[in-house]
Parts: sequence; C-alpha cells; structure tokens
Amino acid sequence: MHTTFGKFIASVCVVAGLVSHAAADTWGPAFSLGPTKGAVIGTTTTFIPGTPPAEAETGLYLWIGISNGTSGLIQAGVDQDADNSYCGASATEWCLSASYFGIGGQFDGPYVAVSGSTEIGIAYTLSGQTWTQTVTVAGKVVSTLTSEDGPLIEGGWGTGTECQQNCKGTASVQQYLNSVIYLSEPDENFPNTLGVGAGVVHTPMETTDGGQTWTIASITLPVYTAPPGNDN
Ligand SMILES: *[C@@H]1O[C@H](CO)[C@@H](O)[C@H](O)[C@H]1NC(C)=O
Repeated sequence: MHTTFGKFIASVCVVAGLVSHAAADTWGPAFSLGPTKGAVIGTTTTFIPGTPPAEAETGLYLWIGISNGTSGLIQAGVDQDADNSYCGASATEWCLSASYFGIGGQFDGPYVAVSGSTEIGIAYTLSGQTWTQTVTVAGKVVSTLTSEDGPLIEGGWGTGTECQQNCKGTASVQQYLNSVIYLSEPDENFPNTLGVGAGVVHTPMETTDGGQTWTIASITLPVYTAPPGNDN
C-alpha cells in the first residue's frame, strides 16, 4: 500500500495553505478554501483524475480533502505507486479508495482500479460525530470509510496533488465538477479564504442561500511537474 508521511503534512496544507518543505515530498498547484468561521459539515464532488503517468513511480496521490487544524484528514481519491497490483490496476489505471489520515495512521476503504477518464463521485457526510465517505462510479458504491471528527470547526476544503519519493508529477489535468460544500452556518466571507495555485482554472464560487452552501461548477488543476531533487 502507499506510504503515508505526506498525507499527515497535507492536513495542515489544506487549512493553512502551507507549503511542505519536507524532502522528497512536493505538491502540485491546489485549490484550497478555509478556514470557515463555522464548520464544514459535508461536501460532494465529481472527480476526473486524468490519465496516470506512463511510468508509475511511488507515489502519486490525488485527492479532495477536508479537515481543520486538529482533526484528521478525510481524503478520498486515486493513488499510483510503482506497484499497483494491490488494487488490480493495469499500468494505465489508478487505484481508487476512500481514505483517512488521523490519530492511528492511514486508513483506506476498499480499493478498485479505474481509468483516468472515470467520473468518480465523492461524498463526505456527517451524522453526529461520524463522517462517512462514499465513493461511487457510475452510480455504484465502490468504497466507503467512516471516521469520528465531528463538525470541522474552522475547517477547510482543498485539492491535494501529492508527490512522494520518486514521483515525477502528473501526466494530465485533473477536474473537479459540480463541487458542493456544506457549512454549519452562512459564511459570505468563505470565497475570500480561497487560495489558488499557478495554472488552476475555476468557475466562480456561487451560493443561493446566503453563504451556507457553496458550489463550484468546475475546477481544473494543471499538469504538475515535480521539481528536480524530488528523488527523481
Ligand atoms: C476541529 O473540529 C473539532 C471537532 O468539531 C473541534 O473539536 C476542534 O476544536 C476543531 N479545531 C479547530 C482548530 O478549530
């Protein structure tokens, strides 16, 4: 399975927009929001990861994350390691799963192999203290996972393009379509917390309920080339 060191750092990056300086761990341009003044209480999106790099290297991890400064990181998405046999992926496919990093380490839901053009449905829903990740392909649930962080007070929402060890970057743009972010209370200032990396293209954030529910029709992340020195 994939390594986990970078995913821990990612929980800070999502909220604070910080850049990791850890060796051999780099990040592609991101779209990140937060903190909200209330809490993040849910999200849905459709993720199209794009064609994976032709030469698989450990490791490339693409995900949509929510967290706050003290919670774990809810981060369903796709992985490519040098050996993708753990999910049955061919060289042109990704390994897809629900995933969570928190106290106790990395936890993953069941893995499935998907092609880069797959429209992946991702939903994070909250009931009491329990978050449920539901990952779907063509309307069928392929991976789920629960975790116990409760409402993500002063939480954030962001894309992760995480490149560890010998990773050279991505080979395709990534798309997030019809993203919806549910907040516990209206936050008209939420768009002002947006951080957008170089080359990231997106439609405006929209709300029809005074800032409690935000939608972003389209986010496109550019192809990312890891800088020299990333053990590549
Ligand atoms: C994150 O959310 C949890 C759960 O609701 C809350 O207990 C904690 O105080 C929040 N952390 C921050 C830094 O706001």
